[in-house]
Amino acid sequence: MAEGPNILIVDDEAVVIKSAERILKGVGYSIDGALGGREAIMKIEHNDYDLVFTDLKMPEVDGITLIRWIKNSKPSLGIVIITGYPSQETMKDALEIGIIDYVPKPFTPAVLLDVTKRAEQWVVDKKPEKDTVAEAFPPSMLAEIDRIIYSYKDKPGSSIPVLQRCQEIVGYLPPFVQKRIARGLHIPPAEIHSIVSFYSFFTMKPRGDHTINVCLGTACYVKGIDSVLNKIKNVLKIDVGETTEDRVFSLEAVRCLGCCALAPVMIIDHDTHSSLTPKNVIGALNKYSPFPLETESLPAEETVTMGGVEEIISVEGKEG
Ligand code: FES
Repeated sequence: MAEGPNILIVDDEAVVIKSAERILKGVGYSIDGALGGREAIMKIEHNDYDLVFTDLKMPEVDGITLIRWIKNSKPSLGIVIITGYPSQETMKDALEIGIIDYVPKPFTPAVLLDVTKRAEQWVVDKKPEKDTVAEAFPPSMLAEIDRIIYSYKDKPGSSIPVLQRCQEIVGYLPPFVQKRIARGLHIPPAEIHSIVSFYSFFTMKPRGDHTINVCLGTACYVKGIDSVLNKIKNVLKIDVGETTEDRVFSLEAVRCLGCCALAPVMIIDHDTHSSLTPKNVIGALNKYSPFPLETESLPAEETVTMGGVEEIISVEGKEG
């Protein structure tokens, strides 16, 4: 029997959940139940459902409130209404929010199965989008993100530490991760996005395994850091603020690293590399690169011995 989507049935009448479960489990669907909107929200936050079938009239958190919450927090989740007395107004609200279909109560097995099949097709049509996200973020990474969010959940002022820790794990803060954090902390996604945009230590772009900070301060500039930077850009084929395609290096420029006597200087991760030249910078990069970086197009310089003393001279100068 083919495995169907995971469905959460939300109804304050346990008999409705039981009856839907009996019909749908029999044909291979995986069913869970919640006796109200509040319980449904808790279950949706901690489980990976494909569809939610919900009653509209429920005490505390009603169906429309639950649907609005799902649309904001988990828009990929398909929603079907199970309702006994749909007023035109509530049905209009539900359709405008974007439900897939509705099942009238009491339902026959044939009607419930028919609507469920249509909802399942909706899930299948959505699948490629879902898989792309899953591929980019392995389950172990998502589990760690959720664990962090959960550990800060009810603590005030937790958004920055959660964002920092999640950035440490993922390497950056793409929209998918921001939304997951917003949902988990019950903070509007726009607020999380504005925090990420405001603080320079947050990044929305993927970062490399190693960050190169090249100093463009005066002392380094006078000693030729511009030609070193050009060499790095040339070899890694990226500009300042970018990351290599293989995500090994990210390149940043900074103003004075506080060790001007060693100029020209760059820091890779936590290591300082001093007295750089366009030639020796490749050796420095190679300490971090998983494969030797190309050296053929390297500097128009070579070491020669003149009167017993080693000197670096320009090849152009020698030829001229
Ligand atoms: S100017 Fe580069 S370390 Fe100070």
